[in-house]
Amino acid sequence: MTNRIGWIGLGRMGEAMVKRLLKKEHGVSVWNRTAAKAVPLAEYGATVAANKQDLAACEIVFTMVSTTDDLKQVLFGDGGLVTGKAKPKVVVDCSSISQEGSAQIRAQLEAAGVAYLCTPVSGNAKVAKAGKLLMVSSGPKALYDQAEPYLQAMARKVMWVGEGELARIWKIAHNVMFGVVIQNLCEITVLAEKAGIPRHVFLESINDSVLGSMYTRYKTPMLTNLTFDQVTFTPKLLLKDMDLGMAAARTHGVVMPAAAATRESVARMVGRGHDDIDFAVLLLETARDAEMELKPDNVKMSDGLES
Ligand SMILES: NC(=O)c1ccc[n+]([C@@H]2O[C@H](COP(=O)([O-])OP(=O)(O)OC[C@H]3O[C@@H](n4cnc5c(N)ncnc54)[C@H](OP(=O)(O)O)[C@@H]3O)[C@@H](O)[C@H]2O)c1
Repeated sequence: MTNRIGWIGLGRMGEAMVKRLLKKEHGVSVWNRTAAKAVPLAEYGATVAANKQDLAACEIVFTMVSTTDDLKQVLFGDGGLVTGKAKPKVVVDCSSISQEGSAQIRAQLEAAGVAYLCTPVSGNAKVAKAGKLLMVSSGPKALYDQAEPYLQAMARKVMWVGEGELARIWKIAHNVMFGVVIQNLCEITVLAEKAGIPRHVFLESINDSVLGSMYTRYKTPMLTNLTFDQVTFTPKLLLKDMDLGMAAARTHGVVMPAAAATRESVARMVGRGHDDIDFAVLLLETARDAEMELKPDNVKMSDGLES
């Protein structure tokens, strides 16, 4: 029997999200450009598709790839999902992409008779694995209602914010804050440590203050023990999102000085060659500017995600 859900993109996020769907006993057919990442999901009950067009028969196809161009590629490029004789009925994209790119994709999909919902997410792969994502949709409300049971299977909360590409703006705003908060958290952590407060003690205090959040808590073990090789989100992906934020600021005529400064700091981190590493490595760059060389604290800290 054909699975009701098709899935394209099994990176850090896609893999964790598909596992949640499988855990809730939804049938999922998966495809990934690097096929080796799809194969292990068969053990969890997924059907591995040989090509993207095989997913067109599913009731709903989710996509979770890197950028706007990558999404265009998997939908309309060579062997793309929408390039076959049989078209999919519904595409739900969860990637973080631009509002303009999303609008172009909507126009092209709708012209081919394919309904389209944007559903970017808040939370990293560990959050996804714990079923604690926030998923925010925009597009036709009736389509959101149709997709909602599947979204509920992957999230702690799902929301519809309006028509068209509004969820893209939501995600861009969210990730600008994501960047600005890590920038400032690194600055104040280096300041506190240089002045004499042990790093883990300072982070614990912030987590328990009015400023603590799920985000500051789940970054704390990494900032304490400098385990940046446990990648959740790369500096390049963060730079992409800061650039989307600055472009949206120009489009809408909004002045964002904190975001602008953060964008430059993230660009410098990327320029210094930090590639396949977690973006929280910004802490080391901030320390370097303060003429400090940090060492792991080697203290076990909670990430607040244990259930
Ligand atoms: N990581 C996070 O914490 C997080 C949180 C929320 C949202 N996001 C957003 O979610 C999206 C995915 O992030 P991620 O961390 O899962 O990224 P990732 O681990 O780098 O995975 C990217 C996925 O996209 C696929 N892909 C990229 N370009 C492609 C192309 N041209 N054709 C076909 N497939 C392509 C990759 O295939 P291969 O395996 O073949 O490379 C992989 O499956 C991004 O838009 C990101 O900004 C990430």
